[in-house]
Amino acid sequence: MLYQTPSGKVPLPTKQGHIFFTCTDIECCRDWRTTEIRDPTAEVLLSQYPTAEMALNGKNAVVTGAVMGIGKAITEILLQNGAKVALLDYGEDKVFFMNCDVESEEDIKAGLKKAAETFGGIDILCNNAGILNEGLWEKMVSINLMGIIKGSYLALEHMNKLTGGRGGVIVNTASMAGIGPLPSCPVYTAVKHGVVGFTRAMAAASTLSGYGIRFNVLCPAFVQTDLFSNIPKKLGRFSELCLETQQLVEHFGVLDVSEVAEALLELVTDETKNGQVLLVLPTDEDGKGGNSYISFPTYVQ
Ligand SMILES: NC(=O)c1ccc[n+]([C@@H]2O[C@H](COP(=O)([O-])OP(=O)(O)OC[C@H]3O[C@@H](n4cnc5c(N)ncnc54)[C@H](O)[C@@H]3O)[C@@H](O)[C@H]2O)c1
Repeated sequence: MLYQTPSGKVPLPTKQGHIFFTCTDIECCRDWRTTEIRDPTAEVLLSQYPTAEMALNGKNAVVTGAVMGIGKAITEILLQNGAKVALLDYGEDKVFFMNCDVESEEDIKAGLKKAAETFGGIDILCNNAGILNEGLWEKMVSINLMGIIKGSYLALEHMNKLTGGRGGVIVNTASMAGIGPLPSCPVYTAVKHGVVGFTRAMAAASTLSGYGIRFNVLCPAFVQTDLFSNIPKKLGRFSELCLETQQLVEHFGVLDVSEVAEALLELVTDETKNGQVLLVLPTDEDGKGGNSYISFPTYVQ
């Protein structure tokens, strides 16, 4: 099923009641809600969402940065596995979902509240929204790190078992650059390391305090999305390292968003996973690469 939106047809697969649409602009909502376009691909898309008992039936999820790239693939795999999903994203041409800028505490609070009220609670949060732009490094810190911290803290209000929530799982999207340095992107490297550290510490805090929430972090290598395709223009003062970055891309290869979404699903559904850092690499012809959990030295128990 395709929907006509102010930005054109949106090929987001949907199933009645499973995608939460809302909008701050009533006029805009009225338009897109009533304009349904039949399309030959519609049945194919809908058939991806069977109704049988599935791993995430009865679970309610929130995904930030959900409209495109990895977030869209995460949304799709959660739907395929039976969850309901609230999509939080921002930008004028995307306001048919919950318009939420993760730099704004008010926006996130409103998005989570609406999701909790609409679905009757939140079980899964994917803090995925992010940018890459070394030229706008303060904004990158604000979105990629502070946005994840704000999202996690505000979600506790809905999910923490100590305050009436029913627990669940929070998966934060970091990057391979959260485990080792990406020389052309020092601030991106710093914030992604921050996301890894924050997530691991929150997992430990949750276990020690009894929040009933698992915290895991996803660390994909290069992924074929808009963020990736424009890297050369986003290196700021490090643009002279464009060639070296390209060599890294050739060395590691490029993931499809579906591979990242599969890894996310493992972190969501496997209840033994808490405080885990999952590195997702393309698998080469010799079978090298693939997914692996990262071990860290233990200084503090
Ligand atoms: N593409 C890669 O190579 C790659 C690799 C590793 C990690 N990541 C991470 O994956 C995540 C998703 O990236 P992607 O590659 O899908 O990028 P993308 O540009 O395709 O999608 C990012 C999404 O986040 C949204 N977003 C950006 N700023 C926002 C804000 N302030 N509030 C709300 N939404 C916002 C965008 O509107 C967009 O929908 C990011 O955290 C990114 O750092 C990407």
